[in-house]
Amino acid sequence: METVVSGIRSTGNLHLGNYFGAIKNFLKMQHEYRCFFFIADYHSLTTHPHPKDLHDTVKQVLVEYLACGIDPEAATIYIQSDLPETAELYLLMNMNAYVGELERCTSFKEKIRQHSDNINAGLLTYPVLMAADILIHRANKVPVGKDQEQHLEMTRQFGNRFNRIYEVEYFPEPVAFNFGTELVKIPGLDGNGKMGKSEGEGNAVFLADTPEIIRKKVMKAVTDAGPTEPNQKKPEAVENLFTLMKVVSSPETVAFFDEQYNSMKVRYGDLKKQLAEDMVTFTTPFRERITDLSKNNDYINKVVKQGAEKAHESSRKTVKEVREIIGFKAF
Ligand code: TYM
Repeated sequence: METVVSGIRSTGNLHLGNYFGAIKNFLKMQHEYRCFFFIADYHSLTTHPHPKDLHDTVKQVLVEYLACGIDPEAATIYIQSDLPETAELYLLMNMNAYVGELERCTSFKEKIRQHSDNINAGLLTYPVLMAADILIHRANKVPVGKDQEQHLEMTRQFGNRFNRIYEVEYFPEPVAFNFGTELVKIPGLDGNGKMGKSEGEGNAVFLADTPEIIRKKVMKAVTDAGPTEPNQKKPEAVENLFTLMKVVSSPETVAFFDEQYNSMKVRYGDLKKQLAEDMVTFTTPFRERITDLSKNNDYINKVVKQGAEKAHESSRKTVKEVREIIGFKAF
């Protein structure tokens, strides 16, 4: 059976981008493959979270994973830092990752731009740690959004390079996966780019947001003055609202507003109201389950313990075999 690995950074709550880009696929895959889903808390350290907050955000993401419907009996759910073997594999893979290729990585260049005061080595080697996450279970498929495509390409590079250097066929080639035809990019509400937790206030709609907050965010979303000709191409900000509508609203609703836009009758206020209500309808069951699960510490602890044990079996085996391939031997 093919193996699936994917993770989400513990830097904030889950938003619609995480759900439609990644988690929606996890839910289906968990019944069809050998799945490992983890919370990337090592990765979150690049921004130096306060120790007091680190644990809370990990717990929050775990609760939200479960609230989305990831079943700990079907998939292995674990916390990245519970597998020290990942850190060891990261060290080993760093030896055949070249500084030049890491510096050329788009996400590294973006991070430099975003926080030029904290360009740490962890940011540079972020793709190596991500490769270690994937290779530690020798994964074949990695359900992710479009923004992770380049990281997957690098993971394949590192795995293939290891195989070449040591003349083995040890790591399979993992591919970015989505049940649709293409990887997904969910836009934010600020008119450009993608929905993301670090893209600024009001850009992302979180699964845990209350209806009031969702309505406020959506009503503030960027639009334009409206179409001036029939069947005009939509500007990016407006196109983004339609993309969001396509994921939370019915096809009839999308078709209705599309027709209104094309015949220049569209009222953005009405469109936003409808979008906000459809987002509220979509997120409400998640929010309710998040609230319930957050109180159930015994269950959460049980899931974490069971996940760490199951993930360990796989990670220990890989690191043992990798050490043998590299030539480490007991004296
Ligand atoms: P992260 O935490 O930024 O995002 C988690 C997942 O959500 C997807 N995603 C989106 N998809 C579509 N549209 C969006 N606007 C959007 N925003 C986020 C991401 O593509 C991702 O699938 N480096 C990873 C975490 C990670 C990982 C891994 C993933 C660490 N190790 C190994 C897979 C395998 C990250 O920062 O994702």
